[in-house]
Amino acid sequence: MTLSPNWQLIDREPARDSFRDDVLQGLSAITKTLPPKYFYDARGSELFELICDLPEYYPTRTELAMMRGHVAEMAAALGDGCALIEFGSGSGIKTEILIGAMRPVSYLPVDISRDALCTSAQRIALRHAPLQVTAVCADYMRLDELPLDAGARRVIYFPGSTIGNLTPEEALDFLARSRRIAGRGGAMLVGVDLKKDPVLLNAAYNDTQGVTAAFNLNLLARINRELEGNFDLARFRHIAVYYEKLSRIEMHLESLVAQEVTVAGRRFEFAAGERIHTENSCKYGIDEFAALARRAGFAHRAVWTDPQQYFAVHLLEV
Ligand code: AVI
Repeated sequence: MTLSPNWQLIDREPARDSFRDDVLQGLSAITKTLPPKYFYDARGSELFELICDLPEYYPTRTELAMMRGHVAEMAAALGDGCALIEFGSGSGIKTEILIGAMRPVSYLPVDISRDALCTSAQRIALRHAPLQVTAVCADYMRLDELPLDAGARRVIYFPGSTIGNLTPEEALDFLARSRRIAGRGGAMLVGVDLKKDPVLLNAAYNDTQGVTAAFNLNLLARINRELEGNFDLARFRHIAVYYEKLSRIEMHLESLVAQEVTVAGRRFEFAAGERIHTENSCKYGIDEFAALARRAGFAHRAVWTDPQQYFAVHLLEV
């Protein structure tokens, strides 16, 4: 644990081997998959920041505008003196808006990428001193309890529709664990992308500048860098399609030719046209998400949306 005036780091980073194990397991499956959490190395995080500014990618700017417009109501509903826990630590702009309005006694961001976590935790500690900031380096998807007593009513903030990157079953399990972490009297504020015209959804994940394609392909570049892989990126292409029946965008990397690839000393065969499934991005109707939250044991207290009904922020209570 590292200490400095108003911030500290609790390091529970999972062993490095999990990347290797997950990649080898995913590439060995009959339908090849790679977990989307591995998109976010330094380059992947940079590309994701670029995605957030793309004209086609509406979620970030829509959610940000909603936070600006409704944060006073959200803060009033949450009350003063909370411990604000955030799962994931992105650019932090939305978080700072929330911190400014709700004035929590402490802020606990939880993220697997230690560098990004420390940078954003220190910045927030500096700007919002004397707010007590405790950065927890851990995989929040596997967290069952916080590694410290937050000492106040816990409010979990989970913006960005990251919950959409889980299947509904995984989201249910994640919400139930979050409810246990929030504990008695706790709450959760979740940003969720809404179902909408497939034309808009397909455009958001197939931008004309090719940034989303670069983000997807960077996963192979990361495997090359970190796991002695030899993927030839020119022999794969990015695919993103909205499946209306499943209410989700699926991202894949498609092999353009029959080829063999080596990763960490293991060989993998690809047929021409064979795909690696890299991400789901599920979209929910308001009532549908409220029902999921209730099944996880939460009470659904409030929801805010934008005028175009592109995005929703739900307030759930234990
Ligand atoms: C982080 N997550 C919510 C993004 C999404 O929209 O599912 C990741 C992303 N993938 C492609 N573009 C953005």
